Amino acid sequence: MTDTAWQQELPDSSATPTPAPTSTPTPAERPPSTRTHLVGLLLGAEEDWPTAFEALLALVGPITTDDGVTHHLTSERLTIEPFDLRQPVRTELVIDRLAHWYYHPREWLKKAALMNDTYLLNSPFTFQSMEKHSAYVALMRLGLKVPETWLVPYKNPVDNVRWAYTSAKYNRPFDLKAIANELGYPMYMKPFDGGGWRGVSRIDDERDLVKAYDDSGEMLMHLQATVEYDHFARALSIGPETMVMDFRPEQPMHNRYAVTYDFLTPSAGRQTAAISRIVNAMFGWEFNSCEMLVKGDDVYPIDYANACPDVAVTSLHYYFPWAIKALVRWSAFCLVTGRRGPMDLEMRRYFDIADRDDLTDEQKLDAYLAIADEYFDTAAYWAWCERHLSHLDAAVLEWVQSDAFTHLLRSTVVTTYPAHERDRFMAHFGGLIALWVKDEKARLGVA
Ligand SMILES: Nc1ncnc2c1ncn2[C@@H]1O[C@H](COP(=O)(O)OP(=O)(O)OP(=O)(O)O)[C@@H](O)[C@H]1O
Ligand SMILES: [Mg+2]
Repeated sequence: MTDTAWQQELPDSSATPTPAPTSTPTPAERPPSTRTHLVGLLLGAEEDWPTAFEALLALVGPITTDDGVTHHLTSERLTIEPFDLRQPVRTELVIDRLAHWYYHPREWLKKAALMNDTYLLNSPFTFQSMEKHSAYVALMRLGLKVPETWLVPYKNPVDNVRWAYTSAKYNRPFDLKAIANELGYPMYMKPFDGGGWRGVSRIDDERDLVKAYDDSGEMLMHLQATVEYDHFARALSIGPETMVMDFRPEQPMHNRYAVTYDFLTPSAGRQTAAISRIVNAMFGWEFNSCEMLVKGDDVYPIDYANACPDVAVTSLHYYFPWAIKALVRWSAFCLVTGRRGPMDLEMRRYFDIADRDDLTDEQKLDAYLAIADEYFDTAAYWAWCERHLSHLDAAVLEWVQSDAFTHLLRSTVVTTYPAHERDRFMAHFGGLIALWVKDEKARLGVA
């Protein structure tokens, strides 16, 4: 814990001081000032996407805005150390991968947001209080097709001296099998705040039900009706950008994301992209993956609160360049335009639409999406990217074909797979990346 990346004091102004003038210059004569913006990466055991992020951020180059200010973007990997709650923070934006399990950096993030307006992807305030369960309820209120879901009390006593008295007096006996019969078999039992398959089980009959509940111990569990789906759509959203991908949860990690074009009907495709952006805007989540089960035109949201979505090159492969580019674009936009991190949620606006009976479901979705696009400033974002980052697509395409990317892929494969499987996986991911290069060239109209 030597680096003081998140503790160093900000200068009075982050603008580079201009030389003292001998006579007062007119605005046209005044030398343009520069500003340097620091992105902090709060990381766990990941090397692949941070290395890619650092490489792509360097490709952005200086951005000069209409006011004549030239903006430079840099990043640092943050370290964990004691901090004074009043100490200014020089990191203007943080991409966080730790707060969902590591509470010291989580508390630093909260302090940085409250005291210093540091922009967070994501804010622990909403991810702690608005987990999977809250997302289910909120989306039900919006009229979306969240599968029938029950919450049942803890199986084991809660570790609190007041539990025995409270439970004896107020916990009503309940019939778990009757609830299960109402939902129908098969069903899923999973923690109300789950993630990473922790405690998830598929329940085919009463025996499974009793066993899964006994095993749940101190976890608080949902019982959820099964959706028999045609497609599992997993949408990765970064700011206003969303990629809806054809996900196969039953496959091993390297094979879960299929590269399939147009795998959904136009209506389901539209809904999945819209729902992802809506739920993120509603909760203030800016880097999240959303899971939906799709049958025909019907979209069933089942998992919506992934504070630390998987962006490993060995999972996303074909979609990896897009994901890291989107992270860089959104970070750059937020920093250079001075976007303020959202501290307040506007759920009431969504609920006011949800509660209207003069609108069809489709009209409601459009109205929710309009609020979400207002939240993300979607139109301004794309116009800004066009103006200031139009060079990035070609630069990223070149980088993905460079030795630096091959090295990144190889070192990730080496740390992920045993020696005898590495050649096979280099060929596997190399092939998928080559497919992305081919498609990207076609999209950009380059040879
Ligand atoms: N209602 C459901 N109908 C059908 N399949 C379901 C349902 N709920 C969960 N599943 C299956 O169980 C898996 C895990 O469920 P869920 O995504 O809710 O848990 P999780 O702990 O958040 O997992 P992850 O972190 O992998 O997303 C899903 O990917 C899906 O395959
Ligand atoms: Mg899930």
